[in-house]
Amino acid sequence: MNKGSLEAMEPLLGDLDEPVEPTQPKPVKTRFPKQWLLLFMIALLLYNAAVVTMTLTHTVSELDPPYSPAHSVIKQERHRLWDGEPTIYAQSPSPQVDAAWEDLLAGVNVRVTREEMVLAGENMTNAAQLLNGDYLAVLGVYHQIHCLDILRKGLHMDYYTSKITESDRLRNMNTAHYDHCVERLRRAIMCHADLSIYSAEWVADSHEPEPKILRSNGESNCLNWNAVETWARGRALERKKFYLRPGPFEKERGPSG
Ligand SMILES: *[C@@H]1O[C@H](CO)[C@@H](O)[C@H](O)[C@H]1NC(C)=O
Repeated sequence: MNKGSLEAMEPLLGDLDEPVEPTQPKPVKTRFPKQWLLLFMIALLLYNAAVVTMTLTHTVSELDPPYSPAHSVIKQERHRLWDGEPTIYAQSPSPQVDAAWEDLLAGVNVRVTREEMVLAGENMTNAAQLLNGDYLAVLGVYHQIHCLDILRKGLHMDYYTSKITESDRLRNMNTAHYDHCVERLRRAIMCHADLSIYSAEWVADSHEPEPKILRSNGESNCLNWNAVETWARGRALERKKFYLRPGPFEKERGPSG
């Protein structure tokens, strides 16, 4: 047995164990050939490497998406972060702009089955049920678009005051609802944290009020909106044309208006 090379490994092993008195006799030397010690160390290194790799990959890899009845539509594609072309949604209110937003929200209320509700982990107690037995549901993305639309209308109350109904005003166009919408959108934006970058470009003398603008050549991974919309429209409950079974809080008030 080569004593010299075995002792050269001692400090390494010593790191993993209690400190060893250098003068104490080492009975293991005579029982285990150095090959076993080498194998043990290699196995230990491989194990450590595997643990580190698993930890790292777990941190950076995507989690499986949670259940959704719209699962089948998940299809990612790259979108430019910045696109200079303004769309109709960015325009001041007009009947055309309202029609565009209404069309965008055509799939806001959808029908889901009891089984899908249960798979989604929804609480069935007091769940709003449709006459045919399915349930009323809203995809998260539609809740967010709805919130954006409410905030947009809130910004243009001069235009909308005469156009909204009293019940719409009570339910949607009030400060509590605006605050709820800001919070909902903040969470959604931070959840999907877009990490692509804008850069700042000079467009005027630095003393001008807006001397530079943000631009980007970056891209984001987005879901294919067409697929989402097709799914939602396929199950859409047409506004004011669907009926819910009475909930548990109904009072006797005669026919409603
Ligand atoms: C389900 O909803 C009911 C009514 O709001 C509530 O009392 C109950 O605690 C909920 N159950 C769970 C598991 O959250």
